[in-house]
Amino acid sequence: ATTLAAAAQQSGRYFGTAVAAYKLNDSTYTGILNREFDMVTAENEMKMDALEPNQNQFSYGTADRIVNLALNQGKRVRGHALAWHMQQPGWMQNMGGTQLRNAMLNHITQVATYYRGKIYAWDVVNEAFADGSSGGRRDSNLQRTGDDWIEAAFRAARAADPTAKLCYNDYNTDDWSHAKTQGVYRMVQDFKSRGVPIDCVGFQSHFNSQSPVPGNYQTTLQNFANLGVDVQITELDIEGSGSTQAQNYSRVTQACLAVARCTGITVWGIRDTDSWRASGTPLLFDGNGNKKQAYNSTLDAL
Ligand code: XIL
Repeated sequence: ATTLAAAAQQSGRYFGTAVAAYKLNDSTYTGILNREFDMVTAENEMKMDALEPNQNQFSYGTADRIVNLALNQGKRVRGHALAWHMQQPGWMQNMGGTQLRNAMLNHITQVATYYRGKIYAWDVVNEAFADGSSGGRRDSNLQRTGDDWIEAAFRAARAADPTAKLCYNDYNTDDWSHAKTQGVYRMVQDFKSRGVPIDCVGFQSHFNSQSPVPGNYQTTLQNFANLGVDVQITELDIEGSGSTQAQNYSRVTQACLAVARCTGITVWGIRDTDSWRASGTPLLFDGNGNKKQAYNSTLDAL
C-alpha cells in the first residue's frame, strides 16, 4: 500500500487526521487529506462552543463543511466532543447544578440527533479524569453536577444515536501504571458491569519528552480491550525529529496493530505547521507537505 489509509485498511483499520475547516481551501492540505486519510476528526468545529454558541441555538455550518467533505469522499467521521470542561460556550461556563446538567444533556441530545447516521464514533466525554496520583475525577462544572454525569451523558448519546460507537477519550492514560489510567479503567469496568452504554476508549497520545511513549503502551490498550470495548489512538502527535521520532511512531502503530480491538489511529493534524503545539515538529508531514521519516516508518508498520 502507498497511503496510510490503504495500509491501515489491509488489517481492517482506519488512519485518520484532525481537520480544521479554515484550511480547506489550502490545496496542499486538502491534497494530502484526500490522499492519505480515511477518518476525519474536526479539530475544533464540533466542540460545545462551536455548535451551541447561544443556549439552544445550534450552529452546524462550519462543522458540516468538514463532515460533508469527509462523507462525500467515502471517509468516516469521529465526533469530537459532546461533553468537555474546556471550550464550553460562555453561557455554559458559569452554570451549575440542575441547570447545567440539563443544558449538557440537551446539547448531547440535539447534536447527536442532528448527526445521527453520519458518525462512526463520538467522544461523548473528554478528559474527565484528574492528572496526578488520585485516580479520581477532575474538578469541573460538569463534575460538580454529580458523579453520575458521565453515565448520564453516555445514556443520552445512545438514545439520540444508536448507530454511533460511544467513546470515553483522555490523555495521559497511556501508561498502565498511572493512577489516571487505572481510574478510567475502573470506570469502564463499572460501566460494562452495569450496562451503561460505552463502546470504546480513545487514547489521545500526545507524546513528548515529559510524557514519552510508555513501554507498556500495548499492555494498556490490550487491558482496556479486554473489558469488551474497542480502543483507538485519537490525537497522536510525537515531539521530536528524524529516526527517534520515526521509531516512536512505529512503536505506537505496532502497538495498535498487535491489539485486535484497536480499530484505528488518528494523528492530530497533517503538517508540522498544522499542529496545535506552539513549537516543534510532531506530525508526519513537514511544513511543505513532504513526507517525513516518521511517515515512512508509520506506513511500514501498518
Ligand atoms: C486543541 C486544538 O488542536 C486547538 O486548535 C485548540 O486551540 C485547543 O484544542 N485534547 C483534545 C483536543 O481533546 O480537542 C485538543 O485540541 C487537544 C488536546
